[in-house]
Amino acid sequence: MKPPLYLKLAHQLEEQIERGVLGPGDRIPSVRWLSRRQGVSISTVLEAYMWLENRGAIEARPKSGFFVRVPFAKSVPEPRFQSPSPRPASYSAGSIVAEVLRAAHHPATVPLGAALPDPALLPNHKLNQILHSIVRHNPAHSSGYEFSPGVEALRRQIARRSLEYGCNFSPSEIVTTNGAMEALNLSLRAVAKPGEVIALESPTYFGVLEAIQSMGMRAIEIPTHPSEGMSCEMLEDAIRKHGVKACLVMANGHNPLGYVLSDDTKKRLVDLTARHDVALIEDNIYGDLVFGARQPKLAKAFDRKGTVLVCSSFSKVLAPGFRVGWVQPGRYQAEVERLKFINTVAAPSLPQMVIARYLESGGYERYLARLRIALAENVRIVSQAAAKYFPEGTRITRPDAGYLLWVELPKKVDAVKLFRAALAADISIVPGAIFSATGRFDHCIRLSCGYRWSDSIDRALVTLGRLATDLLRSS
Ligand SMILES: Cc1ncc(COP(=O)(O)O)c(C=O)c1O
Repeated sequence: MKPPLYLKLAHQLEEQIERGVLGPGDRIPSVRWLSRRQGVSISTVLEAYMWLENRGAIEARPKSGFFVRVPFAKSVPEPRFQSPSPRPASYSAGSIVAEVLRAAHHPATVPLGAALPDPALLPNHKLNQILHSIVRHNPAHSSGYEFSPGVEALRRQIARRSLEYGCNFSPSEIVTTNGAMEALNLSLRAVAKPGEVIALESPTYFGVLEAIQSMGMRAIEIPTHPSEGMSCEMLEDAIRKHGVKACLVMANGHNPLGYVLSDDTKKRLVDLTARHDVALIEDNIYGDLVFGARQPKLAKAFDRKGTVLVCSSFSKVLAPGFRVGWVQPGRYQAEVERLKFINTVAAPSLPQMVIARYLESGGYERYLARLRIALAENVRIVSQAAAKYFPEGTRITRPDAGYLLWVELPKKVDAVKLFRAALAADISIVPGAIFSATGRFDHCIRLSCGYRWSDSIDRALVTLGRLATDLLRSS
């Protein structure tokens, strides 16, 4: 059977990319031009471009056309899926987390640790202009408490954007919080009590492990595929055996693995947890940073019973220091609002007003599109450099979102030692062990690629590669 026309065209372009005729960052012919030139319809060319986009070979840039992507280092394999039988555990890496947080504040370090974008990529100027304008025109902006659910203008904007995620929130269903971290804390407390078990991806964000520990709950790490997410079979098994009360996932941009789950998997997770009356907490903090032009759905989009609580914030995309987050708590809203009052009474008004005004101004989607392109490129460049400099046997993720790379080094490399040696050389990274409640991932590190590529980042990666090789030799 002859291949369809669009596939023939896509293969021709792919060949040109592989041969280097079209290099990373090059613009590929416009849809119209290629359609005329090849005597095929516009929709055939578009189909070919979408096929290449799905394979990660090209990317669409708003109003500019299609461009060849910097590829991931194909010579380096992705981390392996490991599936030890899970059991509830208490987190004990808190002292290393404290070291990591101190390192993140060190201004002289090369910033490959903290999960933050380069300040040069953020719309600081516009946010400051809005802030000045609010302070000038409404000097009493903070003279009262903005009790839960929070500033209405902001909740309206979040509700509007929920359509992009396949949801349809009303502003009254959203509670604003002090960052996503408070949203997660409130959600956990609303659905579980001390001693109860929370199912998590493995690895997972260390802040959540610390929160669970501090509330006297127990974490159970469900084996997680580095690109396909938590095993639904093992989650169901854990629910049956250990009476799991809630499950926490990052379906659109996992920290640290960077995957985006398919709609099928999201639906499976929602159906499975709802069937067992387990709350599903969805951390969507990286959801606006999914690479590509289309915004994937939230797991919440498949929620029929109100058992999914979505948590997010503007920390990773606009202003981490504003501490503006939110939660759509589904059927747990009254309890979340009560806990919000107990926890911090209300969220600060001024940053909420600034972000609401920024979203109202209309440039957010365009800004995000540019930010995603810059971050996707950073991630690929750092991945290629790490592939070149790190010891043989290294495995690296190929993220679909965000700016984090998870690097599995050869088993004998002690990643906490590597973290300390790197810090002594003024480089910050995050050791893998803090992403686990059971001491797994002690040979892994997380690299943040939020900062624009520079000679100093290149040199830092050379140093990291050398330090890892030294540790390997001395083990
Ligand atoms: C996955 C994840 N959730 C939550 C948070 C906390 O977010 P916020 O700074 O908005 O409190 C972070 C911060 O790094 C994170 O990576």
